[in-house]
Amino acid sequence: MKKELDKNIVIKVTDLSKSFNNNVILKNINFELLEGESLAIIGASGSGKSVLLKNIIGLLKPDKGSIKINNIEMVNLSRNLKEKILLDLGITFQHGALFDSLRNWENIIFKTVNKEKINNKQGKKLAFSIIKQLGLHPSILELYPSEISGGMQKRVAIARAICGNPKILLFDEPTSGLDPVTGSLIDKLIKTAVKTVGGSAITITHDMASVCRIADKVILIDNQTISWSGTPKEMFQTANTKIQEFIKPINSEILFK
Ligand SMILES: Nc1ncnc2c1ncn2[C@@H]1O[C@H](COP(=O)(O)OP(=O)(O)O)[C@@H](O)[C@H]1O
Ligand SMILES: [Mg+2]
Repeated sequence: MKKELDKNIVIKVTDLSKSFNNNVILKNINFELLEGESLAIIGASGSGKSVLLKNIIGLLKPDKGSIKINNIEMVNLSRNLKEKILLDLGITFQHGALFDSLRNWENIIFKTVNKEKINNKQGKKLAFSIIKQLGLHPSILELYPSEISGGMQKRVAIARAICGNPKILLFDEPTSGLDPVTGSLIDKLIKTAVKTVGGSAITITHDMASVCRIADKVILIDNQTISWSGTPKEMFQTANTKIQEFIKPINSEILFK
């Protein structure tokens, strides 16, 4: 394992600002995601977490600032090149975003099919091997997203994100709306997905138990900017009142056992 200082920077966001019609959402956001690191982004609803993620992947364009993925500047990159880079990322959106017209197994292997030729049998086998880890029954593979529950759709979206072992994973509220058992299963999977490929992850979440399980580092978005950052343990020691509000309902003794 490389020393902290020697680690590669996988994502670097510099002075990013974003407004919608004079409504400032994010102002001068600066942070880095290092190789092998799992970063959690927390913040109140509407604080701009999803907007930040959408800027990183180019769904939204920042008004100002730079976003580098593996040292490549993403802002103003041509659509073709951007899509090529995004194929190597595993992303889940806050609201599912599965393809309605594709069966679940086709959704899961979507990126892999774009990168290499695999036949239906191989594709189904690949999808099957992934959903096994997510506690999903194989019978859902042939169904369409509209034919399974919201919680299952969420897991299919996660299966799609981790298919092909991408080295960069970006999850927007992966456990919200899931029962605690499934939520903790997803947390384990995120950790394993990062560890096994030596990858890096950004997870947006409201779930503080989840933060403690998966994150090496936490950033809080508040008042348009990053108002606090630290480790999960430091969240329980800080005098920052916003962080204290987030962790109030939690007993750290249980989490860090
Ligand atoms: N495409 C958009 N156009 C205008 N306003 C937007 C758009 N996307 C998000 N917003 C606004 O930006 C703010 C932050 O949203 P969001 O990033 O989704 O919050 P959250 O932290 O809950 O993920 C909200 O006030 C939302 O209404
Ligand atoms: Mg959001």
